[in-house]
Amino acid sequence: MNRQGKKIALYNRIYKQLQEMLSDNPDVISRLATINAILYHKIPYFFWVGFYILHEDNLYVGPYQGPLACQVLPYHKGMCWKCVTGKKTIIVDNVHEMKDHIACDARSKSEIVVPVFDEYKNVIAVLDVDSDSPQAFDNQDDKGLTQITELIRW
Ligand code: SME
Repeated sequence: MNRQGKKIALYNRIYKQLQEMLSDNPDVISRLATINAILYHKIPYFFWVGFYILHEDNLYVGPYQGPLACQVLPYHKGMCWKCVTGKKTIIVDNVHEMKDHIACDARSKSEIVVPVFDEYKNVIAVLDVDSDSPQAFDNQDDKGLTQITELIRW
């Protein structure tokens, strides 16, 4: 199996596992924490994974796994905000070349940010992942992570 095939198979396995684990969990924080734990421990190129939650014009860090992260992302600055305003996934191959990127940890080299929607299609949070390898993320990560965010049921 090639690299892409392995990635697809890995996301499929994780999705099924999470679908089963979250099916009768009524608590959103607990669901977010479980998603992070599974992703962080099962995907080797994930250096940091977590949620930033929208609250009164700021994005506040929610459950996460990995090194200490910025607690608040100020209004309209950085990649997470770009994802909120554009309402679509952002992939950054090399964060050090990105002027508007907020570096919480200098070891991060690439990043993907996926929007999380409520039932009315408003963005209420983002799922942010950093890798310590450059160009770690592609469309398969976007598809896999987007499908996982649909399990959140905010
Ligand atoms: N890089 C993000 C900030 C969050 S950290 O990556 C955990 C941004 O530019 O919004």
